[in-house]
Amino acid sequence: MEKTYWPNRWIFILAAIGSAAGLGNLWRFPYLAYENGGGAFVFAIIIANILIGIPLLMLEVGLGQKMQKGAADAFGAIKKHFRFIGWTAIVLAFIVISYYMAVVSYGVNYFAASFTLEWQPDANSFFFNDVLQISDGPLTMGGISWPVLAGLLLAWALVYFSAWKGVKSISAVVKWTATLPFVILFILIIRALTLDGAGDGIRLFLFPDWSSLADPNLWLAAFSQVFFSLSLAFGVMIAYGSLNRKSTEITKSALWIAGGNFLVSIMSGLVVFGTLGYMALQQGIPVAEAASGGPGLVFVVFPEAINLLPALNSVIAILFFGMILLLAIDSAFSLLEALAVSVRDRFKKTNPKKIAFIITFFGILAGLFYSTKGGLYYLDITDHFVVSYGLVIMGILEAIIIGWLWKGNQLVDFIKDHSEIHLEKLWLFSIRWFTPLFLGILLIWNIYNEFQQNYEGYPTEALIYIGLLPILLAPVVGYILDKLTTR
Ligand code: PHE
Repeated sequence: MEKTYWPNRWIFILAAIGSAAGLGNLWRFPYLAYENGGGAFVFAIIIANILIGIPLLMLEVGLGQKMQKGAADAFGAIKKHFRFIGWTAIVLAFIVISYYMAVVSYGVNYFAASFTLEWQPDANSFFFNDVLQISDGPLTMGGISWPVLAGLLLAWALVYFSAWKGVKSISAVVKWTATLPFVILFILIIRALTLDGAGDGIRLFLFPDWSSLADPNLWLAAFSQVFFSLSLAFGVMIAYGSLNRKSTEITKSALWIAGGNFLVSIMSGLVVFGTLGYMALQQGIPVAEAASGGPGLVFVVFPEAINLLPALNSVIAILFFGMILLLAIDSAFSLLEALAVSVRDRFKKTNPKKIAFIITFFGILAGLFYSTKGGLYYLDITDHFVVSYGLVIMGILEAIIIGWLWKGNQLVDFIKDHSEIHLEKLWLFSIRWFTPLFLGILLIWNIYNEFQQNYEGYPTEALIYIGLLPILLAPVVGYILDKLTTR
């Protein structure tokens, strides 16, 4: 099979923005900003992007592009023994896609419900009882929730048919999925900002409380948010870089990707907090009481806010949940493609559609776990561990391998030769010093917090089996995959 490339650099940039901009921008970012000093957090996000986000993005894109290989073989090309680290990234990508798709399934359910505003009159009960049919805790699995499973199958169908022909189908799809959200966000911003009380919400989101910059928690939240949001550490950007022709411009591309992703975050914040301000005014409560993070924000608070709108409620709902699907789908298939590229590197003669299908099959199988009545708890726990540890440790390893262990490291020169602006010196400095240092501190801090109290008060055995175990097994499975795919 002949290798196919992105048709041009802009399609690559769109695909990467599509991967980066997702649920992380919509439900994590605005809430984190609100909790961590508003505008001060936005400032910290910019700093985190500059200090380690963009450098690591350049590293991953550059590495994939130089080696022309996905994560596994790209690391293998540095040193044979590093190959299993690439496979470990791939295993983490698989874990993320299995639970990410469950959230996309909620999105599918809400998109369908938008036409009749089915969540009326009680959005909370609709989410927890009708869609999730939630069990009373992570220790009760409670069988499949059929609406979630139905949404999951549909979501996987969308993801599979977007990625089944690899770069060819992805190129066609991202032209829409990575551009339309900007248009819809723009419409929703105008709607949100013209609502009474919007200003109060926006103030909460953007008013800078500079004193919170002294709080280490703000910085730690900013660093992990930037990492997850830029789709780093799971092999996605390495895979997307490997689909570039070797001569593609790197540094400016990385700035476009990070800039586009940041823009989606800010725009999402304006929509969410403008609307929350209106909702608070209507209900006569402080905005702070209306605000919440995570799934609750998107699937409970937002539907409630839509109920209160003066007109066109259904249209706004369709636009909002349609946009969630657009944002999430291209993030999801970037994870699929990260896996597929590394497998394709190994099985060059196998039909790419077959590879995508096999990954989809296993993805649905793993997704069943998150489609049970305890699924939301499992998703929350897995996400916490994968982001706090899997992602942070992979980031440290990438920085150390590229910055220190790679004898005759040619990536600096490669980036220099393929960039129109020259930041390689700063880049190398960041990779060698900032990245391991900041991520190291983040890792220690996360471990410390873990022992302070159980995450979200979940029972210890649930945290161990659903959170810790997958993280510990990832390198083992990575190692086995490496052996299985190598003669
Ligand atoms: N960046 C995506 C988001 O913000 C999530 C993601 C992480 C996608 C890692 C791919 C890889 O939603």
